[in-house]
Amino acid sequence: MSTFPDGFLWGGATAANQLEGAYDRDGKGLSIDDAYPGGKKRLNLLKSPDFDWTIDESKYDYPNHEGIDHYDHYKEDIALFAEMGFKCYRFSIAWTRIFPNGDETEPNEKGLAFYDSLIDECLKYDIEPVITISHYEMPLKLAKEYGGWKNRKLIDFFECFAKTVLTRYASKVKYWMTFNEINSAFHFPAMSQGLVQANGGDDSTNIFQAFNNQFVASSKTVKIGHELDPDLKIGCMILYATAYSIDANPVNQLATLQSQQAFNFFCADVQVRGQYPTYTKRLYKQYHVDESRLEITDDDLAWIKKYPVDYIGFSYYMSNAVDVTSDNSDKTGGNMLGGVKNPFLEASEWGWQIDPIGLRIGLNELYDRYQIPLFVVENGLGAKDKVEADGSINDDYRIDYLRKHIEAMAAAVNEDGVDVMGYTPWGCIDLVSASTGEMSKRYGFIYVDLDDEGHGTLARSRKKSFVWYRGVIASNGTELSTNINY
Ligand code: BG6
Repeated sequence: MSTFPDGFLWGGATAANQLEGAYDRDGKGLSIDDAYPGGKKRLNLLKSPDFDWTIDESKYDYPNHEGIDHYDHYKEDIALFAEMGFKCYRFSIAWTRIFPNGDETEPNEKGLAFYDSLIDECLKYDIEPVITISHYEMPLKLAKEYGGWKNRKLIDFFECFAKTVLTRYASKVKYWMTFNEINSAFHFPAMSQGLVQANGGDDSTNIFQAFNNQFVASSKTVKIGHELDPDLKIGCMILYATAYSIDANPVNQLATLQSQQAFNFFCADVQVRGQYPTYTKRLYKQYHVDESRLEITDDDLAWIKKYPVDYIGFSYYMSNAVDVTSDNSDKTGGNMLGGVKNPFLEASEWGWQIDPIGLRIGLNELYDRYQIPLFVVENGLGAKDKVEADGSINDDYRIDYLRKHIEAMAAAVNEDGVDVMGYTPWGCIDLVSASTGEMSKRYGFIYVDLDDEGHGTLARSRKKSFVWYRGVIASNGTELSTNINY
């Protein structure tokens, strides 16, 4: 039987740009996400040389503009989270609601007021808010005119944003994270660093410069938070994809280790241990970084050293296999990455390889390495749901996925002694997919009547997994059976 510590933070996770909608209301400015077209080609488009965030409604749909209109439905949505018994709710703050262009000195009061209400609504039901300060977005101006995170000025702009929201909400919100999936920039720097070819380059040197600037901004945020209240917990957030060598060939084993160091560990090594890891030079070489262009000052290093994060938030959806010894072209899709197909695993319709044991392995790898609390802040299955004639949605596949991952997490906690703070499955209410902009790639316990073309009533309804997850939370994770009628 699985058991979890008292106070374990069961909940769900979302991000402002994927559900709020109201992209131009109450003084909100345009963010880079408002300029992402919908559709399966979204990520390819972001990598193309001429992509510069120009919004062209005659050519593309922009599903983030409307999201699921959480902006107008948040009370109803949070009431549904409360009905499931959520102990916490992870959401992000849209930077552009607070600083519409990013370089203002005075915040937009209407934006702050919106999050006051959202937070108060959570607290009304004893739901602990967990805030990601920046989830895959920044004001469009900071990307277009300042060139995104490779520009050191972003450190000051972010510090101002973080200070504003921390000061405003510190008395009500204990758990914070700085940058969503900071390491995803290795593959898609457009989303988390605002780097595309058209604004001066998304090459590796710029990516590592942007990382450095984000590390410093994260440390400054930790300082601000702890000065406001030493009990605040400020975490990092990484995308974790457990990596396996395709075979026992030492060449593949070494490549796997190096891929782990680069993708899974590099950012956390800096943000948790407070220093660049010993393998950094090799990494620069591996990524063809022009070190003469990198600006990492002694002052930066001092900030990083002095203010490491308090916990590690991470997303886990899938694992990857590594093969550098054959021209194995049997690639799999994946959460911003992709890799070689693992013959032992099944994959979702979008090619993400389903691997609950990989979560247990990942939890162990992270805890062995860092020895600070871990928070599984994203996990879930993107799938197409069918609404039956009677309105029911029997998403047993989603229950099966989540149950197996919770069992794996329980084993890590109970048998391996890993310190896990909580679990917030992704997209607890259906929302717009980050990688494809689709609505039909659904993760929620709550169904939202909206299709890929933007048609639908926006009505919310409970899926079978809603009832199941309510039982999981009520039993603190001991009752995972799908057959119980709660
Ligand atoms: C994570 C992101 O990578 O995965 C989320 O933090 C994202 O923003 C989630 O939505 C699922 O990915 P997708 O592409 O299926 O929406």
